[in-house]
Amino acid sequence: MAFLKAAVIVALISTFVTLASSVPFIVLHGIGDKCSNAGVKHFTELLGDWSGSQGYCLEIGKGSWDSWTMPLLDQTAVVCEKVKSMPELSDGYSIVGLSQGNMIGRALIEFCDGAPPVKNFVSVAGPHAGTASIPFCGATWICIMLDSMIKTEIYSDYLQEHLAPSGFLKIPTDIAGYMEGCRFLPKLNNELPVKNSTYKERFSSLENLVLIMFEHDTILIPKETSWFGYYPDGSFKTILPPQETKLYTEDWIGLRSLDEAGKVKFVNVSGNHLQISHEDMKKHIVPYLSDKASSSSSSSSSSSVIMEVSEYSSSQKWLPKV
Ligand SMILES: *[C@@H]1O[C@H](CO)[C@@H](O)[C@H](O)[C@H]1NC(C)=O
Ligand SMILES: *[C@@H]1O[C@H](CO)[C@@H](O)[C@H](O)[C@H]1NC(C)=O
Repeated sequence: MAFLKAAVIVALISTFVTLASSVPFIVLHGIGDKCSNAGVKHFTELLGDWSGSQGYCLEIGKGSWDSWTMPLLDQTAVVCEKVKSMPELSDGYSIVGLSQGNMIGRALIEFCDGAPPVKNFVSVAGPHAGTASIPFCGATWICIMLDSMIKTEIYSDYLQEHLAPSGFLKIPTDIAGYMEGCRFLPKLNNELPVKNSTYKERFSSLENLVLIMFEHDTILIPKETSWFGYYPDGSFKTILPPQETKLYTEDWIGLRSLDEAGKVKFVNVSGNHLQISHEDMKKHIVPYLSDKASSSSSSSSSSSVIMEVSEYSSSQKWLPKV
């Protein structure tokens, strides 16, 4: 009798779990992009169709413009409020980040008080350990001016307040300037002398962390930043693998805890920045958005279509043509 009761309860629980297990996801786009652009829109729709979960591209302010000019802590605050106001996400959700969108996604996990839990975080080309250059502007006079300004003034109050990517520019030969002036990444990575254990607690509660790096990424310097790998302080000569960085060994944000629990997937795909194929989307993103998030389903299609979720090309449209 007791056995039967237990069996019924187990059956009821598993039914409930099945019904409740379609976890929605949000997409956070990259710099110079916006949710209404065809690339991101299509990307979100495809992931929704293939996973059977509801996907939402969350916009911040005016999209492209604000993605360049609004400080990342402010962008995070906008998304934090949006997420809390969406009843669809109240039981938890997953995040798919594209490039700079990963900075906002991780900040959402670490900094957003009173938000629903984040289950899976799929990071597509995220500059997690910083980037040492902003090469994605172009050769117009404004870009050349911006570039020379960036090299000398990146940690000034003015650029920190007006140029979003200044929040994750980490010049290995100016770590003192970075620690003192950079307002976003040192906080996000718990690099400051005083660590906030809440960030670690929240980040290490993820069920899955998928870090996708592009083998031929020429936008993120170095591309290994997508795996939390980076230059050692003071030098451009070598690149430390993630496991040899202090962020990992001292477990500042819980990356090591997650990795030791088998919850981190370090994925290497071919292509340049954000040029992900349908095949790789099915293999490396969709399984974490589907009903049974951790059982990786093998994809049936061998399509080799390349997505155009490129902030690089769309940023060209935003920049003044001169
Ligand atoms: C740590 O971060 C949390 C979340 O943002 C915040 O509520 C708390 O006050 C912070 N603690 C310290 C010591 O700064
Ligand atoms: C990424 O994949 C390529 C091709 O399979 C391989 O040559 C390269 O070593 C890989 N990189 C890493 C860091 O695993």
